[in-house]
Amino acid sequence: MNLKEYYQKVNSEKSKSQDVAWLIKEVSNVEPFLWGETELTPQLVSTLDKGIKRLSSGEPLGYILGYVPFWNCKILVTPDVLIPRAETEQLCELVVDRVSGENLRILDLCTGSGCIAVALATQLNCKVVATDISEAALKVAKQNAVINNAQVDFICGDLFKNVSGKFDVIVTNPPYIAEEEKEILPSSVLDFEPHIALFGGDDGLDFYKRIKDNVRPYLSPRGMIFMEVGDTQAERIVDIFDKDFDCEIISDYFGFKRFVIARSRK
Ligand SMILES: C[S@@+](CC[C@H](N)C(=O)[O-])C[C@H]1O[C@@H](n2cnc3c(N)ncnc32)[C@H](O)[C@@H]1O
Repeated sequence: MNLKEYYQKVNSEKSKSQDVAWLIKEVSNVEPFLWGETELTPQLVSTLDKGIKRLSSGEPLGYILGYVPFWNCKILVTPDVLIPRAETEQLCELVVDRVSGENLRILDLCTGSGCIAVALATQLNCKVVATDISEAALKVAKQNAVINNAQVDFICGDLFKNVSGKFDVIVTNPPYIAEEEKEILPSSVLDFEPHIALFGGDDGLDFYKRIKDNVRPYLSPRGMIFMEVGDTQAERIVDIFDKDFDCEIISDYFGFKRFVIARSRK
């Protein structure tokens, strides 16, 4: 059997055809236009079969392959970290579009796999400080900094705990799912991704409130906070910040209000 025949066989049985195709391409290291002329070895069949089985159990492709592409980087992922999402690439784009200058000081709160910190450090050619409460996540994030040649200082702690200094830019994609949304989460998220990365209290806004209450000592005058938010949360997050910050809501490429930028008035 060649790779094309294998794809046709498993694809007719499974629904996630894009993931199946991507799995075959990545595992075989053969581009799809060459699949028809690439015969399968028993070892490749066995590896592919195992991957397809995991896909059909609902496991996200990122965990099966152990990595995802993220903007300009390759990001390693394990079950200890959230799989970076496309919206988060847009969050990085926003930062790069809106900030300029030399020697920028950037803090990534709730770094997880380190995707934001690593992407910004490489793109802006600056050093980034990144924090997370999970030692296990930070282990993965550190590997990502190394393989992408990014200068990131990692700190373990609860939000700003153990952070020192002031930052021109704070960027964050904190846990923001409301408790009540637990029931409607797809099982690929609920059963496979770390819960510490998902839930942000009853209304999902706990982290934004804590950031607002504690950020002042860490933000430069006129410093900016770039936040990824849930698609129904943007206005409520502006309410949290707008006493002391000029806020702007930005939509993602699908038109959902997924980002809030808060610029300090002081
Ligand atoms: C939504 S994930 C974001 C991960 C990554 N920044 C991304 O965008 O893919 C949230 C991260 O917050 C971390 N976290 C949860 N509670 C925290 C806390 N109290 N202080 C710092 N980080 C926390 C989790 O370990 C997780 O890595």
